[in-house]
Parts: sequence; C-alpha cells; structure tokens
Amino acid sequence: MLSLRSRLFAPILLFIGKSTLVASLSCRNLPGDLNFPSSAAWDAFNVSIGGQLLAVVPTAMFCHELPLGQCNTAMWASAEFRAGIPGSMDNANWEQDYLSNPPSLCLQNSTTCGQGNVPVFAVNATDVSHIQLGVQFASEHNLRVAVKASGHDYLGRSTAKGSLLLWTHHLQNISFTDSFTVDGKNLGSAMTVGSGVPANTLYEATKQMGKIYVGPNTATAVPAGGYVQGTGHSAFSTALGLGADNALEFEIVVANGTLLKANEVENSDLFFALRGGGSGSWGVVTSATFCTFPTFPAVNHVIEYLATTNASTRALAEIHARHVFDWTPFNAGQYFYLFVGGAAGNSLFVSTFFPNSTEDQANAAMKPFIDDVAAANLSVSVIELNVTSGLPNDLLFMADVQVGANDILGSRLIPMDAYKTNVEGIGQGYEELLELGVGGSVPPPFDYMRAVTRLCSYRILGHNLLGGKVVENANIGNAVNPKWRTAQTHLIATASWPDSFTPAQVEAVKEQMTNQFVPILAKMTNETDSGAYSNEADVREPDFQTTFFGSVYPKLKSIKEKYDPNGLFIVQAGVGSEDWDTAGNCRVN
Ligand SMILES: Cc1cc2nc3c(=O)[nH]c(=O)nc-3n(C[C@H](O)[C@H](O)[C@H](O)COP(=O)(O)OP(=O)(O)OC[C@H]3O[C@@H](n4cnc5c(N)ncnc54)[C@H](O)[C@@H]3O)c2cc1C
Ligand SMILES: *[C@@H]1O[C@H](CO)[C@@H](O)[C@H](O)[C@H]1NC(C)=O
Ligand SMILES: *[C@@H]1O[C@H](CO)[C@@H](O)[C@H](O)[C@H]1NC(C)=O
Ligand SMILES: *[C@@H]1O[C@H](CO)[C@@H](O)[C@H](O)[C@H]1NC(C)=O
Ligand SMILES: *[C@@H]1O[C@H](CO)[C@@H](O)[C@H](O)[C@H]1NC(C)=O
Ligand SMILES: *[C@@H]1O[C@H](CO)[C@@H](O)[C@H](O)[C@H]1NC(C)=O
Ligand SMILES: *[C@@H]1O[C@H](CO)[C@@H](O)[C@H](O)[C@H]1NC(C)=O
Ligand SMILES: *[C@@H]1O[C@H](CO)[C@@H](O)[C@H](O)[C@H]1NC(C)=O
Ligand SMILES: *[C@@H]1O[C@H](CO)[C@@H](O)[C@H](O)[C@H]1NC(C)=O
Ligand SMILES: *[C@@H]1O[C@H](CO)[C@@H](O)[C@H](O)[C@H]1NC(C)=O
Ligand SMILES: *[C@@H]1O[C@H](CO)[C@@H](O)[C@H](O)[C@H]1NC(C)=O
Repeated sequence: MLSLRSRLFAPILLFIGKSTLVASLSCRNLPGDLNFPSSAAWDAFNVSIGGQLLAVVPTAMFCHELPLGQCNTAMWASAEFRAGIPGSMDNANWEQDYLSNPPSLCLQNSTTCGQGNVPVFAVNATDVSHIQLGVQFASEHNLRVAVKASGHDYLGRSTAKGSLLLWTHHLQNISFTDSFTVDGKNLGSAMTVGSGVPANTLYEATKQMGKIYVGPNTATAVPAGGYVQGTGHSAFSTALGLGADNALEFEIVVANGTLLKANEVENSDLFFALRGGGSGSWGVVTSATFCTFPTFPAVNHVIEYLATTNASTRALAEIHARHVFDWTPFNAGQYFYLFVGGAAGNSLFVSTFFPNSTEDQANAAMKPFIDDVAAANLSVSVIELNVTSGLPNDLLFMADVQVGANDILGSRLIPMDAYKTNVEGIGQGYEELLELGVGGSVPPPFDYMRAVTRLCSYRILGHNLLGGKVVENANIGNAVNPKWRTAQTHLIATASWPDSFTPAQVEAVKEQMTNQFVPILAKMTNETDSGAYSNEADVREPDFQTTFFGSVYPKLKSIKEKYDPNGLFIVQAGVGSEDWDTAGNCRVN
C-alpha cells in the first residue's frame, strides 16, 4: 500500500502530466513508521554511545516511577529538579499534545499518561562524541531531532513529539583564562563553558575568580544553550551589552556530524548566526566562550506598589513610562513586573540593579519616580521597599525558581521613540491588557520571582535594561535583531491556565494571546514592523521572520541552508521553519 508520506531523506521530484513539477512531501520517521529504527538498531546505537541512551517520559510519569511521595509539589515546581529530567519542560504545557485526537496528556495528577510532545529517546551526552553519533544516527534514519539544555524554553522548542533528544545537561565543563585568543588576537578575560552549565553555577564560579559575566536573571537557564543564540538580556546589559554581544567562540556539532569551531575567523557566518539568530536552528552547541569582567559593587533597589484598581494601575504604569530613561545614565537594569491579583488589586514590582553604586546613589536615582507616584495621589500604596548591596554574582544568584505551570508568552521590544512620543499609548496598552484579563482567568500555582509577591502571579513583565552598551554594540556584527538597539524595554504579556482546561479552552487561551494580547503590545511600539525577543515570545507569531529577526532574516536563511541543508534542526518560528509543517516533521517547501 502506498503511504501518503514518503519516507525519503530528500524530497523526490514527481512529474505530473506533461510539465508540472511537484516536490513531494518528505517526512521524518516517527515511532510506528515503517522506517523508524528497530529496537535492535536503537540497542546498537546505545552501545556506540557507551550506554548513554535513555527512554524519555513526561515529568508526571517520571514522578510516578519514583517511590511514592518522592515527587511532591515542590519538586514539580522546581526548575532545578526539572533540569535533571530529560523529558521535562519548565512550562509543563509544552509536554502536552492538546491537538492530537484523542489528546495525549500527562498532567501533574494524571492517573493515565500519554507521551504527548515529549521525545521518545534521549542521548544523555557526557562527551562531544555522543552528540556527533546522535546527529549521525538521526540523519541516517531521518529522525525528528530535539535539542535541550535546561528545558526553559517559553516556545516549547526544546521538545518534539516522536523525536530523538540530544540533551546537553551533563556537559558541565568550565574554564577561565585571562587572555582568550582567536587567530593570535588577544580578546582578553573569558570563560569557556559547556552547554549544560546553568546560570547560577556561573554566577558562583565567576565570583570565585573575582569576575562577572552577562547572564540571565534566573537559576538554571543555560547561557551556552538557548540564551545566547536567542540574544540574552541581563540586569547588567546596559553596562555590559547583551549575552550575544559577549560571545567570543562556539564549538558546535553541525548537521553532518562534524564538530566545528565558530569565531570571528573560522566559520564566521555560523558565528554570526549563533549570536542572536535564534535558538536551536544551527546544530548542537557543545561549548561557548564568553567575555568576563572584573566584578564590582552593586545595589539592588526593590520597590513594590499595590494598585487597587485597573485605572490606578494604568496611571502607575504611565508614570513609570515617563521615568523609563531615568536609570539608563547609571547603566542600571530594571525589571518592572506587574502581578495581577483580580479584585484584590495589582502589584507593580520594580527591581533595579545599579552597577558601581552605593545605596545612597541608588535611592537618589529612584527618588524622582517614587516622588511622582506619591504626588499623583492614586489609590496606590508601597508594600515593599528593600535596598541591598552586594556583588552582582550574589544579587543575581538564585538557587532555584518555581516553574511547572501552563504558561505562554507574547512580547514586543518597545522603542525609545514610543516612550518619547506615546507614553499615553503605553499606559492605555496596560489598561487594555488588564481589562482583557491578561494572565488568564485562574491563578497559576506558582510564583516566578525570588522576591516575595503578595499577590498571585498573572503578569505583564517589563524589562528596562537596554540602551547604553546595547546601543554602543549596534555594529558588533552579530545576528541580534536591530530592534534591540533602538528599544528601551522588552515587554511580555503572559497567559496561564489550570490543568482542568479542555484542549478547546487551551486553544482559546492561545488564540487570545496571538489575536488580542500581542496586537496590544504591537500597538504600544507605535511601529508597523515591531520586533520581539525570540526566546520570550508567542510561538505563533504570524510573521516571525520579521518580528524575531528583522532585516537579518535573509542572511540567516542562507547560513541555515549552508550548514543544515536537510533541516535536521527545525524549531517552530525558527529560521527555515517556514519550509516545514508546524510539527517540524514534513517538508512543505
Ligand atoms: C524563568 C525564566 C527566566 C528567564 N530569564 C531570562 C533572562 O533573564 N534573560 C534572557 O535573555 N532570557 C531569559 N529567559 C529565556 C531564556 O533565555 C530562554 O528560555 C532560553 O531559550 C533558555 O535556554 P536553555 O538552553 O536553557 O533552554 P532550553 O529549553 O533547553 O533550550 C532553549 C532553546 O535553545 C535550544 N538549545 C538548547 N541547548 C542547545 C544547544 N546546546 N545547542 C543548540 N541549541 C540548543 C533548544 O533547542 C531550544 O530551541 C528566561 C526563561 C525562563 C523560563
Ligand atoms: C542503554 O544501555 C544502558 C547500559 O547498558 C542501559 O542501562 C540503558 O537502559 C539502555 N538504554 C535504552 C534506552 O535501552
Ligand atoms: C495535584 O495534587 C497535589 C496533592 O494533592 C495538589 O497539591 C496539587 O495542587 C495538584 N495539582 C493540580 C495541578 O491539580
Ligand atoms: C546521565 O548521565 C550522567 C553521567 O553518566 C548520569 O549521572 C545521569 O544519571 C544520567 N541521567 C539520567 C537521567 O539517567
Ligand atoms: C571537559 O574537560 C575535560 C578536561 O579538560 C576534557 O577531558 C573533556 O573532554 C571535556 N569534556 C567536554 C564535553 O568538553
Ligand atoms: C481589572 O479588570 C479585570 C477584567 O475586567 C477584572 O477581572 C479585575 O478584577 C480588575 N482589577 C481590579 C483591581 O479592579
Ligand atoms: C565599575 O568601575 C570600575 C572602576 O572605575 C570600572 O573599571 C568598571 O568598568 C565599572 N563597571 C561597570 C559595570 O560599570
Ligand atoms: C486624593 O484623592 C482622594 C480620593 O481620590 C481625595 O479625597 C483627596 O482629596 C485627594 N488629595 C489630594 C491632595 O489631592
Ligand atoms: C531584602 O532583600 C534581601 C535580598 O533579597 C533579603 O535577603 C532580605 O531579607 C530583604 N529584606 C527585607 C526586609 O525584606
Ligand atoms: C504613532 O503615534 C502617533 C500618536 O502619538 C499616531 O498618530 C501614529 O499613528 C502612531 N503610528 C503607528 C505606526 O502606530
Ligand atoms: C560538514 O559541514 C561543514 C559545514 O558545512 C563542512 O565544512 C564540512 O566539510 C562537512 N564535513 C563533511 C565530512 O562533509
């Protein structure tokens, strides 16, 4: 019997009638397909990688296999715990396949479980050769591949249904040098880190050396994994640039199984793409080298307001928008997170990191904003004020973060110009999002921030940490979307839902994100071609090429075709994904 899908590696060309040339669909071999490897083939592959092949299960099933009570709610919510489980995603919704008929779900308290969108096997790499052999095996058998370091991905790109997972979590090497050289040129103080090393480990390791690096504000995200490929923002980006601006070299296994070095001189096109060109599209990074800087005294100023109405929340957001440039001259980076607590009110949590500052200087820099809020006589009160001094290594260190909810995002980079000319539009956008019930209708179980938040965690997440060095680095020659260089903030709207939602209700949440929340954020930019951060965004962005990559996209597409001509590394909304179906299994172009 003829199968609708051809199982060939490359598309075959068919002549239909006299002259119509049609490329047939070429699809990956999935479990159950005729050409999916036999168990004997998997066993032989397992032997070739020293027994490092794992059968993968969703988090809840992993928990069920533990002795009774071993996987409690705290573990379920722990990013640290999840990082050690090959099938686990930080946002549990990405493990689910809501769309298959019947849906294939494995929820926290499920009594029966489907495999969902979780890979079937994983290479638990402890050596570069394991990755190379995994890539070769996947190519040879035309398998769907997923690549994962931590499972932080907000777009679900580090898991794929029916795939072989190349898991880099155990690549934990770290080394430091005072003079990292490329082609004989001394690029200065740097660290080379495996693509499994989490951010928190690196805040500690750099501290031991009297150094700091540009990294994320979370526990287990991996700087050499998706963070740098997506761009990477930091509390100290205004002072030190973006994560991608600070990468000096990569080692990467590309689609033909070769381990390549990518830097300014060797494979410089790939080096360009790996710095902002999108996570998961280029191969499997095994290590990356980043600049390190002498660490410095810093201050974290935290103030949290409670606003009892949506109108006062809007007014508060607008006052914040009027002050958004106040802190750039201090090279400070600021998170301004809105937690939405329903009728109880909303809280705006403003956490600002000042480099090379004293507490007095930080207080003085915050004063104009704080005074304006007080003078506005809104129904707003201060519910937390905390000023802490320390090394950035300690201020940014988090042992763990709480995850495990069903969570999706949509975002935009809000230009400096919008803050100069359209502050009312920004305030209005907040109010519109609040009125639509941004965050969802039911509280998610967990808080995201280390900080004490008195209200539940539905939210609009603001990042005021651009300008300064981010602007100075505009011509650094990497793939970072140019929109970052003219933006003042990165603004995220979130949506969550409880496990009790039906697939149709989940679909409605996703549609609201794409069709309502994101357009409101786009309107706030006051641009027609607005940009967004590809790592923290809506995976269903209709024109992701422009939104995530802007003018860089055509160049990225040609680099993709050079290094990955058969699309082994396809992630949704990633470079070249338009040539594949949504699942990344069948070529459509
Ligand atoms: C709680 C939380 C806080 C965050 N805070 C910040 C922040 O402060 N700043 C910021 O910029 N971002 C932040 N992010 C976003 C973060 O940068 C992205 O989620 C990023 O993709 C994480 O990379 P990862 O490799 O750790 O994640 P994973 O989910 O493992 O992978 C993410 C993507 O990278 C690919 N990938 C992973 N490893 C490799 C590899 N070795 N080779 C090739 N591709 C790989 C995956 O295929 C996937 O596409 C945060 C995310 C979360 C959930
Ligand atoms: C791979 O081999 C190791 C060592 O023999 C074994 O423990 C493991 O279960 C095997 N993996 C799979 C998926 O069969
Ligand atoms: C699962 O069960 C635990 C223990 O009863 C409970 O605390 C938790 O809230 C439940 N989770 C969900 C998503 O229902
Ligand atoms: C992966 O390999 C490492 C190193 O051999 C081992 O410690 C770890 O337990 C393995 N992970 C899993 C989930 O089996
Ligand atoms: C880690 O470092 C050790 C010692 O330098 C080296 O032998 C090993 O190959 C490295 N592992 C990886 C995955 O790079
Ligand atoms: C804001 O608006 C939403 C939607 O109308 C509503 O559910 C919420 O209670 C309002 N918040 C406050 C603090 O009034
Ligand atoms: C902190 O101050 C030192 C000494 O003036 C300077 O060399 C360094 O660049 C500063 N660092 C930051 C992040 O501003
Ligand atoms: C502040 O607002 C309250 C109620 O909205 C009002 O009663 C009061 O007069 C206002 N105070 C000032 C100084 O404007
Ligand atoms: C202030 O913040 C620091 C660092 O997070 C914390 O250790 C301390 O307990 C906080 N102090 C107060 C009074 O909340
Ligand atoms: C930008 O804002 C102005 C008003 O401030 C408005 O007239 C104009 O239409 C906006 N442009 C876009 C593209 O949104
Ligand atoms: C693998 O691909 C890279 C990049 O395109 C190329 O430089 C290398 O020669 C290829 N290796 C083999 C064995 O084909």
